[in-house]
Amino acid sequence: MQQMELFKPGKIGSCTIPNRIVMSPASTKFSTPEGFVSQSTIDYYEARAKGGTGLIIIQAIEVDNPAGHTYTPPILINDDKFIPALKELTDAVHKHGTKIAAQIHHGGPSAPRTMTGQQPLAASANNRPEMFGYIETEPPRALTLEEIGDVIEMHAQAVRRCKEAGFDICEIHAAHRYLINSFISKAWNKRTDEYNGDLKARARILLEIIARARELVGPDYPIMSRINGHEYIEQFGLHGITIEDAKELAVMLEKAGLNALDISAFPANNPRMEWGSRVHLAAEIKKVVNIPVITVGGLDAEIGEEVLREKKADFVAIGRGLFADPELPNKVKEGRLEDIRPCLNCNTCNVKLFDWWNCAINPSYGKEREYTIKPAEKSKKVLVIGGGPAGMEAAATAAQRGHKVTLYEKENCLGGLMIMSSAIEDRLYALAKNMEHQVKKHGVQVVLGKEVTPEIVEDLKPDVVIMATGSSAIIPEIPGIEKAKVLNALSLDREGSLLGYSDPKFVKSDSLMSDTRAFVKKYGIPLVNKAVILGGELAGLEIADFLTKRGRTVTVLDPGEKVMDLECPPMPRLRKHLRQQLQLQDAIFTSVKFDEITDKGIAITTKEGEKRFHEADTIILAMGVNSKNELAKKLKGKVPEIYLIGDCSTPYGIMEAIQGGARVARAI
Ligand SMILES: Cc1cc2nc3c(=O)[nH]c(=O)nc-3n(C[C@H](O)[C@H](O)[C@H](O)COP(=O)(O)O)c2cc1C
Ligand code: SF4
Repeated sequence: MQQMELFKPGKIGSCTIPNRIVMSPASTKFSTPEGFVSQSTIDYYEARAKGGTGLIIIQAIEVDNPAGHTYTPPILINDDKFIPALKELTDAVHKHGTKIAAQIHHGGPSAPRTMTGQQPLAASANNRPEMFGYIETEPPRALTLEEIGDVIEMHAQAVRRCKEAGFDICEIHAAHRYLINSFISKAWNKRTDEYNGDLKARARILLEIIARARELVGPDYPIMSRINGHEYIEQFGLHGITIEDAKELAVMLEKAGLNALDISAFPANNPRMEWGSRVHLAAEIKKVVNIPVITVGGLDAEIGEEVLREKKADFVAIGRGLFADPELPNKVKEGRLEDIRPCLNCNTCNVKLFDWWNCAINPSYGKEREYTIKPAEKSKKVLVIGGGPAGMEAAATAAQRGHKVTLYEKENCLGGLMIMSSAIEDRLYALAKNMEHQVKKHGVQVVLGKEVTPEIVEDLKPDVVIMATGSSAIIPEIPGIEKAKVLNALSLDREGSLLGYSDPKFVKSDSLMSDTRAFVKKYGIPLVNKAVILGGELAGLEIADFLTKRGRTVTVLDPGEKVMDLECPPMPRLRKHLRQQLQLQDAIFTSVKFDEITDKGIAITTKEGEKRFHEADTIILAMGVNSKNELAKKLKGKVPEIYLIGDCSTPYGIMEAIQGGARVARAI
């Protein structure tokens, strides 16, 4: 069999890397409050090394304390005292044959006062808040010439410390919306001294860092840099780095002695970014340099292999895909593709939820040591009711621990809401299939098409019942709500509703679902042309975005003062993204009172007291859900142990569902 390009060794300067899969740098919050690498940091990176990654580039570590911080607590490298703990990390990763790089970083304009206690710093003062990306902070001030000298020395000393701490490579972060990029980008840099002018002058700070670092570490230590191949800021009327600038910069950096280039962009990612959409940037850079080029942004193994075959890059960096599944490289190598837990591209990982940074679908993220599968002290008879994400996670994990698990699902296939929701996000289907595979692989007995009653439970006599029965839609009291034109967002997981019929009595089977899903994904919901969606939470805005993109006219009406509380789970990043998209189209109205649904649409009263009529051929209900826990109430006191997980406990969405399943299955 032909060897995959992904698994051929490669070189960056003097460092030989066992394969072409690179873990993209991504900040975590696992360090100690003082900025040292912690045991959790080591466990987190070691899991990815064990999983077969060729090169791990650890998260942005700060050269300037506190002025450079963009996350707390950061890992620091501004003092030699941090070297021993960093060395423990490099040693742990090296045990698995994986190479390790550190990304050194100064947050500059994106380092907010809340983390640093001071005004942010940049090449020049700037009062365009949209340029700060997601982090809303105050406008930065310009660095003085003396401070530029200090920043250069801080970076160079950090390169030296990387070498001493055993990092095989040091990466200088000059991308995204951080300090060095604020010099390189003409959208940011308005200085009038030698650090502005042509591209060479704007890149001067980076060139001076490289020159000083080489004085400290010598010519052979591998140094690379992450740069923007493009700044996608045109929508704000701004013109930043273009691929032409990036190519010119790449040539300059090669001449200055860098050993590789890591081509990212601003923004580095987006919820729902198109897979592989940044590859062309690396491919263009590769045409003008001889040093290795790393591509990053929405990549998986399949795209990565193609990129390498087509010689568009030399290495493929994966960030979120390795949060979701640390063993991705080994699974690809062994051909176990159905075992890969696929990243959903939702960016829940980019916010702190439940006091921790999390991955929506990998409950072990950041808990690698605590969450290893340990055999149960006593094998129990476990009944899981409900085959959505919570139930499947619980069943597979409990079975792996040695329990005898039976999973009942009232529909004819596993997956719950994930199946039809995947018409909107493909990866949900892949996730459902991955979870189903785990359930079957670990010997769970699956019973489909049967609704569990107290009598069935009495018959089965389980030691443990895990309820994962999900939720049901809230139906508001509006005259006319019973009309055929009213669809319910939750029942959109049923074929009939998705095809535009309000009668949901369709048999849900795996193959039928898969055809319908493909059809709906391509064409939208066929009988819906002009829709009004009642409810501006995640489900409502997801459907609105989906239909709008397929040419339908959509209005979202919500009785609340604002749509989407962005601080709340589930999926805050995705919610913000969707809200922005729809607000741009003036499609959301809040503080609305629903008066009546008629055959022509819906009559409402606006917050100003004005009576209005919104014409629609379809009204979609997305007013939230209630937990479905009636069976649990009936079983109370009748089984030795009972647990409620997922939406039937608290309707928080997929992350809490999977986390709940993982937690309970480890506790029994
Ligand atoms: C939670 C999170 C933290 C990140 N932190 C960093 C970082 O410290 N340095 C950096 O250069 N990029 C950072 N990124 C960007 C990633 O390295 C990567 O470029 C981006 O996520 C696109 O790749 P992906 O689609 O494979 O995740 C971060 C991304 C995420 C989601
Ligand atoms: S939180 Fe979402 S985007 Fe982030 S790694 Fe997990 S699945 Fe992927």
